[in-house]
Amino acid sequence: MEMTKRPRRLRGSMTLRKMVRETRMDKASLMYPMFVMDGENKVEEIPSMEGQYRYTVDRMGECLQELLDAGVTSVMLFGIPAVKDEVGSQAYDDNGVVQRALRYAKEHFPQMYLVTDVCMCEYTSHGHCGVLCDHDVDNDKTLELLARTAVSHARAGAQMVAPSDMMDGRVAAIREALDEAGFTNVPIMSYAVKYASAFYGPFRDAAGSAPSFGDRKTYQMDFHNSREGIKEALLDEEEGADIIMVKPAMSYLDMVAKVKEQVTTPIACYSVSGEYAMVKAAAKMGWIDEERIICEMAVSAYRAGTDIYITYFAKELAKCMDEGKIG
Ligand code: PBG
Repeated sequence: MEMTKRPRRLRGSMTLRKMVRETRMDKASLMYPMFVMDGENKVEEIPSMEGQYRYTVDRMGECLQELLDAGVTSVMLFGIPAVKDEVGSQAYDDNGVVQRALRYAKEHFPQMYLVTDVCMCEYTSHGHCGVLCDHDVDNDKTLELLARTAVSHARAGAQMVAPSDMMDGRVAAIREALDEAGFTNVPIMSYAVKYASAFYGPFRDAAGSAPSFGDRKTYQMDFHNSREGIKEALLDEEEGADIIMVKPAMSYLDMVAKVKEQVTTPIACYSVSGEYAMVKAAAKMGWIDEERIICEMAVSAYRAGTDIYITYFAKELAKCMDEGKIG
């Protein structure tokens, strides 16, 4: 058989395969989403996310230390307040749970890079991502509260803010407010291409943030659309977003690749709670090999072009990188 091109030639040994790898990654690009809650001395496992916990501020150090030991150096904080109200006041209270967590982490774990999720749904009694006017979220009134939240986070020590609400114009509003407050160097990572997705189910369970009526389809994107995602990404870049995020990850890697071609910011993608829960459940049944699956999920996100990978499996992936299983 005469063949000049034999692709298998480059697959002959592990050394060779590693030499010609097209996708390489680094622990520095992993970000871990973490839940902090009001209260004292509590660590609660999240029922639909086995192996993930909610921590009170006084116990969050346990998690941060484990991450640092594994070589994961950035976290994204989500707050679960004891009380919620119509206008989500705990979101922008300087003594809110995320603000206290930031002050604690900044003091005790200065090596950890602190990012905060900026949204109202964990703080509103109705579970929507903004303030309501009749039965819909009032976009422009919400902007002011998001901006207040971002500034309050920065004041407490957030090094980067990540708005996830999907209101129009929020990046510009937050940029302006941060700049006015003197935080010109705090970057904004925008959840720009965020779809209305059933993959967020376990998160809403974790944060008690499921909307009490309706859904999020008037602000999060319709998953049938791709060009609309480019529109969102371009708008947010124009408004001053420093990093553009695509979310969820696994079913949306086409968007990671497309957005990467359209913007000049770094790209992040978020492997969300439903992706985590599916892997955990199938692994528990003995139907898949958990470690190999999470490696494939991560590598495919990087292969699609992500620069930052936000994942509940950050620690496990860091270990796989150390052991040379990926990377
Ligand atoms: C807040 C927010 C959500 C997630 C991140 N930020 C939930 C939602 O939009 O309903 C989802 C994260 C996950 O599922 O892991 N708006």
